[in-house]
Amino acid sequence: MSFKKDFLWGAAAASYQIEGAWNSDGKGFSTWDHFAEKQGAVYQGQTGKIACDHYNRYKEDVGIMKEIGLQSYRFSLSWPRVIPSGTGKINEKGLDFYSRLVDELLSQDIIPFPTLFHWDYPYELYMKGGWLNPDSSDWFAEYTAAVVEKLSDRVDRWFTLNEPEVFIHMGHVSGEHAPGVKLQKRDTIRMIHNVLLSHGKSVQAIRENTKQPAQVGMAPVCSVVIPHNDERNTVKAAEKLMFAPDTEENFTAWSNSWWLDPVFLGHYPEESLKHLGKYLPAGYEKDMEIISSPVDFLGNNHYHGYYVSSDDEGNVIHHGAPVGEALTGFNWRVTPEGLYWGPKFLYERYGKPIIITENGLSNKDWVSLDGKVHDPQRIDFTNRYLRQYKRAAEEGVDLAGYFHWSIIDNFEWAFGYRERFGLVHVDFETQKRTIKDSGYWYGDVIRSNGENL
Ligand code: FCB
Repeated sequence: MSFKKDFLWGAAAASYQIEGAWNSDGKGFSTWDHFAEKQGAVYQGQTGKIACDHYNRYKEDVGIMKEIGLQSYRFSLSWPRVIPSGTGKINEKGLDFYSRLVDELLSQDIIPFPTLFHWDYPYELYMKGGWLNPDSSDWFAEYTAAVVEKLSDRVDRWFTLNEPEVFIHMGHVSGEHAPGVKLQKRDTIRMIHNVLLSHGKSVQAIRENTKQPAQVGMAPVCSVVIPHNDERNTVKAAEKLMFAPDTEENFTAWSNSWWLDPVFLGHYPEESLKHLGKYLPAGYEKDMEIISSPVDFLGNNHYHGYYVSSDDEGNVIHHGAPVGEALTGFNWRVTPEGLYWGPKFLYERYGKPIIITENGLSNKDWVSLDGKVHDPQRIDFTNRYLRQYKRAAEEGVDLAGYFHWSIIDNFEWAFGYRERFGLVHVDFETQKRTIKDSGYWYGDVIRSNGENL
């Protein structure tokens, strides 16, 4: 079997990256508003103050999604737009924006699939210690409840967190993203625990407040290890490495098993606990039931992986980059097999349907003299990755959907507007949108449910 009949085809974007309207209608200040003010933090001092002006142009944008043929749109809500101080008073005008967006999507037969948190954290909560504060999970549950109360008469699918590994590592360890701090391991592990608990409480808040049965999951980025060949030893080595336990020396916030075992298996990996358990808050065990509140699927953002093989003793051999390998605009490696092995390994370990919540590339796109945007690399890249994803489906991996990143060129975090990831081109001077060749191509893929790949 290829992709299932009810397989969901969509594209994604995130609030800070597209909305603009950074201080309109009572929106609160976010850590990304704050970080972008810091000299040298973002390419050419660019900010998300205007971005794609999606806040004002959402109807046009939904019209474009319809023209392409999207079945679903994955967007995120700005927490400080909804609750300016992070807790307490709700900003009805902010929440209304998302309500109007949902109505517009539904009127075009596009399924809204919101993500509650995609990195624009309320600045006021950051001033209280942010995710390090022991109350941080209650704050997130409170915000979740406010959103679900408002939208769940029309929305029945939710993602809690986008790429927690990234906002912890880049935001709180390397300091390249907001809020731009550099924590020690002890604090990082505490923070991860609070974030996991926030996810769990958010799942519960969705289930408690939803007005109709809801499907819920997370959208982590998982580091995918790709077997360099199909030999049994190599495949085993890759799978083992993908979920390898962490030690005092090698722990990073990218660990797949440290993040995912608690959510899907209800405990931190035993072997890792021996080394790192001492950094967890006292009594952390009582949180594990909440953290592992049942979810319906495993989202996964996937861009690139790395290749390994193994010798006869099972020792891992890392394969560096071949000379002259294919690279995207971001200089990220093109590794299509990751979309076969990643979902396969994740499904085998956690047993939940997989949704690819992001996949795509940045490319040097511009509007040609003929007024069109020709981006054959994006078509080829996506075709190659989707063929691998389809192979996983054909072999029985339970795949529920695919969201291309992104629907539209946008503010690419520390790289500002330099990296264009969209199926739709934006002229940031005029806000003119142009559907790229890849957008039309993707529409054909959707209409054939991937049969034309
Ligand atoms: C992911 C982010 C998304 C976008 C893509 C390129 O890490 O979730 O917002 O920046 O990378």
